[in-house]
Amino acid sequence: MSQTRRQAIQLLTVVAATQGAPVDLYTLKNASGAEAAVSTYGATLVSLKVADRAGKMQDVVLGFDSGQGYHGDHPYFGATVGRYGNRIAKGRFTLNGIEYKLATNNGPNALHGGLKGFSRAVWEAQPIGKNGLKLTYVSKDGEEGYPGTLTTTVEYRLTDANELRISYLASTDKDTVLNLTNHSYFNLAGEGSGDILSHEVQLYCDRFTPVDSILIPTGELKAVAGTPFDFRSPHKIGERIDADHEQIKFGGGYDHNFVINGQAGTLRPAARVKEPTSGRILEVLTTEPGVQFYTGNFLDGSVKGKGGKAYQRRYGFCLETQHFPDSPNRPQFPSTTLKAGQKYQSTTVYKFSRA
Ligand code: GLA
Repeated sequence: MSQTRRQAIQLLTVVAATQGAPVDLYTLKNASGAEAAVSTYGATLVSLKVADRAGKMQDVVLGFDSGQGYHGDHPYFGATVGRYGNRIAKGRFTLNGIEYKLATNNGPNALHGGLKGFSRAVWEAQPIGKNGLKLTYVSKDGEEGYPGTLTTTVEYRLTDANELRISYLASTDKDTVLNLTNHSYFNLAGEGSGDILSHEVQLYCDRFTPVDSILIPTGELKAVAGTPFDFRSPHKIGERIDADHEQIKFGGGYDHNFVINGQAGTLRPAARVKEPTSGRILEVLTTEPGVQFYTGNFLDGSVKGKGGKAYQRRYGFCLETQHFPDSPNRPQFPSTTLKAGQKYQSTTVYKFSRA
């Protein structure tokens, strides 16, 4: 390993004992001092330290100080989610005339890959380039009910332009469905510092996919105009989060998939978030057709995160770039089928700046 790489990537073994395979934590550093730590457990983004307007580095993602926290019960902090990010109704879908039954873990539905999913798998890691890490996981045919042996790689790169670039690649030996995402909870004022209601959000999305009371899409693509879902110009998260609107009630706030304007498959802006006190700005770009804007409505203080802090309701927000929920049962949505021999490719960029 070169001297530069040694400086950029520190390898620490954080958890070994209880769960069998050892888990490693890698730290990526860039020229301006930003740092991203990634664990091989769930290919999880464990911490992300970026500068505020005064140059002060703070960790802007929720999570735990030790590996043990990630083994316990928690709502996917920083995890790579697969095989299917978000919900598949009743945990069932039909592909090539065969009905597949998935592990259900969210009422009647399958959520975020099932009982274990990719977020609780131990991935194999390999440093790449100056500031990168490649993680690989082979999911067996039939795992959580999904067909095909699927090989997935996730690459994290922390560029000198303060971008965390996440690239996903996958291939399968049998036709299957796939929808990968990252489930980081952000608080741009610093994790654990309070709720995210004063963050100003802009979503480059003219439409969203309304849901029923258990958060399954109705199938409609609805215009955001005239609703609390209109973030085409910046709005504080808190401004309309408790509005008297059926969709807001179903989500307990925002927990909805937005349809990103422009051509899916090309890297284009999905969101911009500004936190006025720190001056930190997050821009999200993706090749995916959608983004789940989730405002941490299910956080309730029961999970103690970094520094023992209780993560209360709405202490973090997620921008999970993805295909639309329940796509395998919605032929009108962009397809999530990955055919044998085809390549799955997806890229998302979380770019940080300050004002
Ligand atoms: C996603 C879902 C939410 C919730 C969280 C995890 O964002 O859309 O409903 O399940 O994950 O708690």
